[in-house]
Amino acid sequence: MSTNEERIARLERLRAEALQGGGPVRIERQHAWGKLTARERLDLLLDPGSFVEMDAFVTHRATEFGLANQHFLGDGVITGHGTVDGRLVFVFSQDFTVFGGSLSEAYAEKICKIMDLAMKVGAPVIGLNDSGGARIQEGVASLGGYAEIFLRNVLASGVVPQISVILGPCAGGAVYSPAMTDFTIMVDGTSYMFVTGPNVVKAVTHEEVDADSLGGAGVHTGRSGVAHLAAHDEAEAMEQVRRLLAHLPQNNLGDVPLVPTNDPVDRMDPELDTVVPAEPQKPYDMHDVLRRVVDDADFFEIQPAWAGNIIVGFARIGGHAVGIVAQQPSVLAGALDIDASVKAARFVRTCDAFNVPLVTFVDVPGFLPGVAQEHGGIIKHGAKLLYAYCEATVPKVTVITRKAYGGAYDVMSSKHIRGDMNFAWPTAEIAVMGAEGAVNIIFKDAISDADDAAAERARLVAEYETEFSNPYVAASRGYIDEVILPHETRPRLVRALEILADKRDTNPRKKHGNIPL
Ligand code: HXC
Repeated sequence: MSTNEERIARLERLRAEALQGGGPVRIERQHAWGKLTARERLDLLLDPGSFVEMDAFVTHRATEFGLANQHFLGDGVITGHGTVDGRLVFVFSQDFTVFGGSLSEAYAEKICKIMDLAMKVGAPVIGLNDSGGARIQEGVASLGGYAEIFLRNVLASGVVPQISVILGPCAGGAVYSPAMTDFTIMVDGTSYMFVTGPNVVKAVTHEEVDADSLGGAGVHTGRSGVAHLAAHDEAEAMEQVRRLLAHLPQNNLGDVPLVPTNDPVDRMDPELDTVVPAEPQKPYDMHDVLRRVVDDADFFEIQPAWAGNIIVGFARIGGHAVGIVAQQPSVLAGALDIDASVKAARFVRTCDAFNVPLVTFVDVPGFLPGVAQEHGGIIKHGAKLLYAYCEATVPKVTVITRKAYGGAYDVMSSKHIRGDMNFAWPTAEIAVMGAEGAVNIIFKDAISDADDAAAERARLVAEYETEFSNPYVAASRGYIDEVILPHETRPRLVRALEILADKRDTNPRKKHGNIPL
């Protein structure tokens, strides 16, 4: 019969053993790769002392391939809950020092348990991923475990925020769960995401490629758009998680907390009056507009390295959390192409799912023409953005700074698709197309019949610009609620967000819509 002291000592021994992970040699190897351990990562992410571990004594149940004698308490993933800036989050942190962080049946059950709890109490789930994918020795039991997680990712989607941080070489199933979460953050130089690694690629397609060129942070934040943010190191990645959480509610039934600001809500900025160049074709940096409008010039850009012709990100305006979508006239003239449409559509849906009001800044010459775009399906992909804006029921405020041409005018949170407050600057040009293009089409005969074709074209272009390249035709129909002075944009937005704070709007009841995927 054990004494109480012996029983307590046993618990302490087990607890100490669970802290060992895969042992000192593998931990040293982890550090040598420039990576932190699963527990060190939790310390970086969570408020000090807030982490409460669950299932620390779970082990796998496999017996094949010599696994019967290889047990590690916790089985390669640390799960539990803690707080970030005082707010509850559920976390799992994969431990690469135990079987390469690979996922067993028991490991999957641990993750599912915290996901189920997070759904019940309505709190975000943060996944720290560092895993070789399905634990090969467990075979189909591991595949089943992944599928259980995927199912929960989907059921939790739009209910609680889900954020994935990629902190090592994640392969196979280890990338599909992050792909279904709301945000994916990678670390430059130490994290990779691929369905199959370089060796398999070489065997199947005979392509020689290293891990970084195949699925490093640069690839996924700059080319594929799979990841949203890249960090220089793990500490910066955790900081980015905390920043994201600050702009999201706990769940879809909550709102993002208002954060009081010292930045005056009635601050006018005269520089905004000159930010749009006089020449319609001349670019400018939309970031200059955003920084001057949001609280403390603090704009948290999401996917900054991909599809630069559209800018998306979070900010606060008068303390109200907002998601901003803005054209970038200095990249592809701000035209909407496939990548920009997909990027913005996803962001709009994320904001709508989590009750974050949308503020849209428009300077768009239209959808990008070209064979590659058409053959790539710009019709289908552009429709995603249109669909996303149409279905969004959060407060929607729009500012047209310059061009709003053609179908892109309709798409970019126009009045017709339930824009709540639609403003235009006096520099706005709201029309089917630019003056040159319009005149060349509708006055083709008049120009070719004229004695001096060039002079006649110039006259007609000037006439068209005066008549149509302005905000007043749209304003006269009520498509624009107010033409505002650029310098008064911030106070106007603050007021609009205050008015719309309690907005309620719904879509018809249905099983779900059929967004053009
Ligand atoms: C079991 C694994 C493992 C795995 C790694 N290990 N991956 N054990 N199952 N999937 C173990 C290694 O045996 C090793 O154990 C330790 O983890 C570290 O691995 P290394 O190979 O030494 O590390 P490194 O060189 O950094 O390479 C990391 C890696 C590589 C790129 C992740 O290990 C790898 O390619 N693993 C296999 C990836 C894979 O194909 N996974 C299955 C995908 S299929 P020791 O004892 O030496 O420390 C899948 C199905 C789900 O996931 C699909 C759902 C859609």
